[in-house]
Amino acid sequence: MNQYILASDLDRPVKLDEAELRQDLISAERYTSADYAREEWKKVWMRTWNLAGMAYHVKEEGEYITVDLAHESIVCVRGADGEIRAFYNSCPHRGTRFAAVEEGYAEKFTCPYHGWQFSTSGETIFVPNEEDYAQGSPCGKKRLKEIQCRELFGLIWINMDNDCASLEEFLGEQIVRELGSYHMENMVRVMNMTADSPCNWKIITDNFNEAYHVQVLHPGLIPYIEANYKNCQFDTLAEGHNRGWFPSHNPSILQDGDEVAEHLAAIMRQWDLDPEDYHGRENHPKIRKALQQAKREKGIEKGYLHYEGYADYQFTDYIIYNIFPNSVITVGPDGVQLLRPRPHPSGDPARCLFDHWWMVPEIEGITHTPSPAGGPDLPIEDGEHEVIVYGEKSLGTTADEDLSIAKMQQEGLASAGYQPFYLAHQERRVQRFHEVLNDYMSKD
Ligand code: FES
Ligand SMILES: [Fe+2]
Repeated sequence: MNQYILASDLDRPVKLDEAELRQDLISAERYTSADYAREEWKKVWMRTWNLAGMAYHVKEEGEYITVDLAHESIVCVRGADGEIRAFYNSCPHRGTRFAAVEEGYAEKFTCPYHGWQFSTSGETIFVPNEEDYAQGSPCGKKRLKEIQCRELFGLIWINMDNDCASLEEFLGEQIVRELGSYHMENMVRVMNMTADSPCNWKIITDNFNEAYHVQVLHPGLIPYIEANYKNCQFDTLAEGHNRGWFPSHNPSILQDGDEVAEHLAAIMRQWDLDPEDYHGRENHPKIRKALQQAKREKGIEKGYLHYEGYADYQFTDYIIYNIFPNSVITVGPDGVQLLRPRPHPSGDPARCLFDHWWMVPEIEGITHTPSPAGGPDLPIEDGEHEVIVYGEKSLGTTADEDLSIAKMQQEGLASAGYQPFYLAHQERRVQRFHEVLNDYMSKD
């Protein structure tokens, strides 16, 4: 039984009570100050749940991944008892990083410096010359330092705060149920790109917390996605996360002309709809509903097994979940994107690492999927991690358009002329994000 099932006739995600906003002004130092970034590390990053990777990389005993968060490296490994555990990648002897690869298999870990060895559950199991330790052998005494680690939605999550709330409590019941209904545990991550980017990580999360800029910066989306705030839904969730709903597979009311754009027409034909029947602006609003109906009727028989249990809106729409602080998860009918900025390992507040994952379900007879980063279609198999410097290569049209602004905004925020001001109602997820951030930063 699928515990994540939603009501099938929902036309949009359930509207929730809005969090109360204080209208805090958004200071510049949070984007520009190294002192602020150091405080933020302790008060935000060391206290929140973060995504580490795909659970299918750590299926068998001894399989592990390492993940970098700012200057830290964390190792997540499946132990002999079937549990996934996460450890700081720091040898308890003299601090050396003992795991050097991003993805691997180890019966036990061996530190490359003096050869201490650790089991996959973190015990020190071998120390060269153990009789030479006057206080007694470290074996069985000293352990790798462990942090919180959980598997949910086929993803691995970590938290450096051992007194933290559970992951489900942190995410909240609404997000757990809605994200769960996409069954990411059955998906393959076909793209995994990281771009070293010239802005503070929050410039990217701010960008994904509003769609006000879409009509100006992403005019190419208008033939497919509703970009006018009046027809979208933006929610600020009690747990501090945000959600944006965009009716899609439908031209926006901002689009001029009677044509159905080719990309959308191709999808319609795939579901036996004739785009000619929907010519004319008055007919455009019918496309989304017709696609929902066609997919409900024919999806499963065409092999789109992941449609099982979908609510109407899930067949067509994009929903963006901004999980505090930095996990931006966009779900669509046939795949999930993660767009995630991380603080830069150098500690420079004007830089970040920006990850772009594309996860898709396996569908019989379909071997490739269009790449959200442009270029040739991607084979539906686990993608290699590609690390680039921003500008060397496209991250995808929309992400490139967003990043084209990021450096300019970083520079403008560092100006003595920057004036904090109130935001539009449709930007309230940005406002909410900064108020949640202020709450974390004001705690001891
Ligand atoms: S630092 Fe790891 S064994 Fe010495
Ligand atoms: Fe954008």
